[in-house]
Amino acid sequence: MEIKIQLKESDIPRQWYNLAADLPTPLLPPLGPDGKPIGPEMLAPVFPMNLIEQEVSQDRWIDIPEEVLGILYRWRPSPLKRAVYLEKFLDTPAKIYYKDESYSPPGSHKPNTAVPQAWYNKQFGIENITTETGAGQWGSALAFACKILGLGCKVFMVRISFDQKPFRKTMMQVWGADCVASPSTETNAGRKVLEEMPDTPGSLGIAISEAIEAAVTDPKGKTRYALGSVLNHVLLHQTIIGLEAKKQLKLAGEKLPDVVIGCAGGGSNFAGLSFPFVAEKISGADIAIIPVEPESCPTMTRGPFAYDFGDTACTTPLLAMFTLGHAFIPPPIHAGGLRYHGMAPLICQAIVEGLLEPRAYHQIKCYEAAMTWASTEGAICAPETSHAIAAVIDEALKAKEEGKEKVILFNYSGHGLMDLSGYDAYMAGKLIDYELPQQDLEKFTAVLKNLPPAEKRKSGKW
Ligand SMILES: Cc1ncc(COP(=O)(O)O)c(C=O)c1O
Repeated sequence: MEIKIQLKESDIPRQWYNLAADLPTPLLPPLGPDGKPIGPEMLAPVFPMNLIEQEVSQDRWIDIPEEVLGILYRWRPSPLKRAVYLEKFLDTPAKIYYKDESYSPPGSHKPNTAVPQAWYNKQFGIENITTETGAGQWGSALAFACKILGLGCKVFMVRISFDQKPFRKTMMQVWGADCVASPSTETNAGRKVLEEMPDTPGSLGIAISEAIEAAVTDPKGKTRYALGSVLNHVLLHQTIIGLEAKKQLKLAGEKLPDVVIGCAGGGSNFAGLSFPFVAEKISGADIAIIPVEPESCPTMTRGPFAYDFGDTACTTPLLAMFTLGHAFIPPPIHAGGLRYHGMAPLICQAIVEGLLEPRAYHQIKCYEAAMTWASTEGAICAPETSHAIAAVIDEALKAKEEGKEKVILFNYSGHGLMDLSGYDAYMAGKLIDYELPQQDLEKFTAVLKNLPPAEKRKSGKW
């Protein structure tokens, strides 16, 4: 039995898969400040038009440019691995497979979209890109992509991660990017937050406001903004993960998986792995598809489905999604990439349809899972990825109880070699579990009542 299932470079998928083409009920449209659906031109100051076209596309398949593939070959196709050592430790009949996205130069799945986003910006004549970053994985991925493609890059990094993960900042600097802690004094949005909350740990919502402001105020008009998750085109670029996995499972002699798992912050790595399998489920396959989030930031499991802004300063269009409210300030848990108040609209619509089964875990359980992983498979995973591993362990133990040889597939979204302070805190017994109090949830979501309502439309098939 092979434990690493490799694809040849010539077998790399040459098209991305767009779930929007197959969802039984279409996405609710993004709305402008007047509450009316926005046209593509309203996004033009923020994104280049070639990416906006992908954002609104209903085409099932979208070609990956050869030049983009030429850069992705540095680490793609990524290996599909079988976690035989974990299986043995758990004494489970389940077969556990995972896509190892930690192979990329920055160490996560994020460059799968950073490279095409930088490439399309360059095609459009853009010279600089701004962005936000939580854990620092996205910022370093975009810095890497901009370096390879010769673009300038400015990253607003959430304050708590900036302090917890100084070496992520160094990585961004090695790749030539400028990285500042958010909220910063460089933008109106940042200055306003600092006046009201000088000691804030920051949030992705604040950092997004700053990055958008920095892009749209470039007097030369040569700067655009890039988002590392949530939006349709970002999820689209990540589907290369699931499309590779499908081919690799076949090579391993498997049909479809019984269970597909990924952690979900804004949803991009989960969507990237799972959407090609969601398509199979829509066509009748029986697959449990599970996005996992932290109990401290329970967007999918406790947030209402509503129209909300993507950022704190309310500059983005309104998106229909599960949300904790755009002013939500998450507690400083170590999985910095899982602290976003919203969730990708495509994932949310799939949840409304009943195609996905979201679940939430406390961080101590996730670090326990990460420690089990390190002592069996050997690698040290990102704190975000540990949420997926915790669910994998639960599912493998359930398969043992049921005596079923289930095939479990999950996304190993990144390594944790830049996230060791979280492991330190865990081993010193300093981590605490934090459940969002109901009254805080109600306080943060109260603002949604003043925004247009989002109708839960579903076909009723699942
Ligand atoms: C390693 C890793 N996994 C998962 C995530 C969560 O993001 P997303 O839900 O977009 O995949 C992040 C975000 O920073 C990350 O760095």
